[in-house]
Formats: sequence, structure tokens, C-alpha cells
Amino acid sequence: MKHLAVFASGSGSNYEAIENAFLDSNKEGCCVSLLVSDSPNAFVLERAKKFNRETFVFNPKNYENKEKYEKDILDRLIKHDIDLICLAGYMRIIGDTLLEAYQGRIINIHPALLPSFKGKNGIEDAFDYGVKVFGVTIHYVSKEVDGGKIIAQRAIEYYGNSLQELETYIHEIEHELYPETIKKLIKGN
Ligand code: GRF
Repeated sequence: MKHLAVFASGSGSNYEAIENAFLDSNKEGCCVSLLVSDSPNAFVLERAKKFNRETFVFNPKNYENKEKYEKDILDRLIKHDIDLICLAGYMRIIGDTLLEAYQGRIINIHPALLPSFKGKNGIEDAFDYGVKVFGVTIHYVSKEVDGGKIIAQRAIEYYGNSLQELETYIHEIEHELYPETIKKLIKGN
């Protein structure tokens, strides 16, 4: 059985999609074991309650530096025998402590077609730029933010003028593509 940890800072709709995709953990050979959040008031924690999911919630302000809190996270990852870390709207840059311990085993979802529109406003930046092909990227996490090797992408054309509508479409793709990609990665290993 493979064990996943999901890291999230906000609403957690991708976290929930991953949980739902691995409800039958025996069939999938994989289960979500831990949710990590840096934000004690994040809605993702409400979602985690529905799944009785164990959480590790920390406040970075209570730590001297990134290395200290990442060591604390790493203790939990080891305790839960985590194989793969899935970042899902986790708003912190992963530091050396986790990158070295989980080299090649940390992935992220980005709501744009990388390498275009890196950063935290991928959808809005693409919309403002006026592109007509949007999409979602799943990639390995490396030292360079949104710069690791690409694993999967899915695109849509959008000619409308509602950012909100576009966001809805993008999130729908995310909720399909992320679990699908995780399943492929798990099977490939
Ligand atoms: C998603 O759009 C994801 O691509 C980006 O952050 C957002 C998180 O949304 N990295 P949610 O918290 O999963 O609803």
C-alpha cells in the first residue's frame, strides 16, 4: 500500500478530489494518510474532518525558520510512511529539508500551462494576457518555483470573458487530472 500526504493552505477542493479518488484504497493500492496545512483557519481542514483524516497543522510564525518546520513535517511524513507528497494549493516554497528527503517524490498542480504563467495567479494572469488556450499542469517540485519536470497537462480553449467561468472550468480539469496522474505515478512505481 502506497501512502500519500497532501499539503494545502486554502480551500482544498483538490485535496477533496484526491480523497474521493482513493476511497477504495485496497483497489487502488494507495491511500491518503496525512493532510499538512500551514494555515490553522483553512477550509481544507473542514474537508479533512469528513474523511476523518489525520492532519498536521502548523503556524510557520512559531518556528525560527523553514528548516525547523520542515523537520517537524518530515517527522510526520516518516511516521506515516509517506511515499508521495502532493501539493494542492500549498502556498509555501518547499525547502531543502523536504526536497532532499523526498527527491522526485513531491508533485504540484498549477492552474496554467507551464512554463507560461508561473506564480500564484496563473489563471488570472493568463486571462489578463488574453490567451485563448488555458490549462492545468502537474509537475515535479524542484528548487525552481513551478519549474520542475512536467508530468501531465490538459488544455481547454476559452473565448469567453468571465474569469469566474474560466476558473470553474480550470478547477474541473484539476479535479480530474490530479487524481488520474497520481494513480498513474503510483502504478508506474
Ligand atoms: C488550485 O488552482 C491549484 O492549481 C493551485 O492552487 C489552487 C488550489 O485550490 N496550486 P484548492 O485549494 O485545491 O481548491
